[in-house]
Amino acid sequence: MCGIVGIVQQQETKIGKTIIEALTKLEYRGYDSVGIASIFDNKVLITKDQGKISEVTERIDINKIKGKIAIGHTRWATHGPPTKENAHPHTDCSGEISVIHNGIVENFRALKEELLNQGHSFQSETDTEIIPHMIEQLVKKEDILLKEAIIQVVRRLEGTFAICVVSSLEPDKIFCAKRDSPLVIGINSDRMFCASDIPAFLDKTRKVVLLHDDEFVTLSSEGYEIIDFNTMVKIQRKPHIVSWKPEMAQKAGFPHFMLKEIHEQPNSLADYIRIKQPALNKIADKIYNAEKIFLLAAGTAHYSTLTGEHLIRKYAKKSCSAIISSEYESITSLIDEDTVILPVSQSGETMDTIMAIKNAKELGASILSAVNVIGSTITRHSDEVLYLYAGPEIGVAATKTYTAQTIAMWDIGLELGKLSGEIDNSEYLAARKLFQEIPTVVKQTIVRNEARANHIASWFAKKNSSFYLGRGLNLQTANEGALKMKEISYIHSEAYPAGESKHGPIALVEEDYPVVFVAPKDQTNKKMISNIMEMKARGATAIIVMEEGDKEIEELAKWKLEVPKGYSEMLTTIPYIIPLQVLAYYTAVRKNLNPDYPKNLSKVVTVL
Ligand code: BG6
Repeated sequence: MCGIVGIVQQQETKIGKTIIEALTKLEYRGYDSVGIASIFDNKVLITKDQGKISEVTERIDINKIKGKIAIGHTRWATHGPPTKENAHPHTDCSGEISVIHNGIVENFRALKEELLNQGHSFQSETDTEIIPHMIEQLVKKEDILLKEAIIQVVRRLEGTFAICVVSSLEPDKIFCAKRDSPLVIGINSDRMFCASDIPAFLDKTRKVVLLHDDEFVTLSSEGYEIIDFNTMVKIQRKPHIVSWKPEMAQKAGFPHFMLKEIHEQPNSLADYIRIKQPALNKIADKIYNAEKIFLLAAGTAHYSTLTGEHLIRKYAKKSCSAIISSEYESITSLIDEDTVILPVSQSGETMDTIMAIKNAKELGASILSAVNVIGSTITRHSDEVLYLYAGPEIGVAATKTYTAQTIAMWDIGLELGKLSGEIDNSEYLAARKLFQEIPTVVKQTIVRNEARANHIASWFAKKNSSFYLGRGLNLQTANEGALKMKEISYIHSEAYPAGESKHGPIALVEEDYPVVFVAPKDQTNKKMISNIMEMKARGATAIIVMEEGDKEIEELAKWKLEVPKGYSEMLTTIPYIIPLQVLAYYTAVRKNLNPDYPKNLSKVVTVL
């Protein structure tokens, strides 16, 4: 997820300052590098570097950025680490065409091959850089007009994109196109904006036009023209006036980043699935051939590694353990060159995990990591990296990065099952079909449970403690659900193996005591029913995450939170956490707490 902005104006007033201000309001969309393309004296000037906007603007003179037209980009790296070369904008060989992009071009490798064969040279590892070269090929070699060339190019892109193009060939226009990635237009009397999100220009204008998929826009200081880039039909779309305050706009209308990020999960999971990563099979091979396997993580990431632990045992038939990073000392005597370490981390900067990895490397282990932030410290110490592509997560309590970590564990697990033969070909294909459906199932689960969770929260918010019980794979769903409730509502919530509830927890249960059960319709279902009955007999109020239509379980629930059929076993730890994320969020809100910034917690713990 990146931030893109474009400005075209009638006056030549401080365009560099305006575009930097606009980009700064989009930093929540990505912040590892920043760049601007402006046109002055019929020349494209590119100013870009790695680093946050505040860091980069110290190194450049934004007053040097002159003229009436500019596009700007604040990056969240997906293809290629954060470096100056990988920062947007990207240009063609001549430097006359420059492009910024938010999204993922799935077919960029084949298109890059074609361009290399046509003699184009590349400066970056990004997918984006193929776009200006494709435009250049049509304009320079086939004498096609710039606008037509851009349209022909975007028709060939597979994946998601919102792009802005400026060129000295048409120095007073910005050309934009979008599919799946957001793009909006802001309208002023003497100036036009385009951006990923409204906050970019909300302090300049509230007059906004939202663009739809497969639309192409020509912006000039006098106005805008929208066409469907498949049919070339012109589209008349009136602007509307936005009432949001700037803060609200950064959350796309959601009251908190955490709720926005919960709702982003269908897209973030789709992005993970969309990008085929060569590291996946290398990681599965190395795990399959390793003697000893340890997963390493902290906090929420640790609970995602419990899915990995379960799947490696089940599908690779290998003993393996998920170790909390700060407990790494307990395994150092076992680590050698036949050991594989799998660190899982959203930030890639958790100090406990970094220190453990460094030591494991010294002892000869291979480091195969699953990380969200490209170029982060953990990725630099890894032999292979599986990226999570969840985009920046602003809420301190992990949500979309947890499901991204978990889907990565399932991705590895399915490959191990295929390698070991534990999953035959038809089972593998069926599992991969379910895998592709995960974004839709997560969306359905959010829609089905949000209002119900909000209702339960009005009761839960009055409680001081609770148990979360699960079995097998969904024990970690109970763990992560309890952690979410602890982290943001400050209600003591303890996850426990359901089979253990009679060895302790049951002593605390009294009338109307909250017990959350994660009870999918899998082989644990019958035993969960007896655990639920045991706890209810002592007065517990049962909140049950269950498969829709499971009548036996439903009868036991005071409140049910339902997951669509077919996900009680394969991939279960992804949809089954969704209702518990939403329950924790609304409980915190009901207690008038701010879920985005829970007390005493930080997004990344970079101290030991
Ligand atoms: C904690 C975060 O500080 O660190 C958790 O609040 C996170 O959400 C944990 O799971 C580990 O961080 P990371 O970046 O290594 O996944």
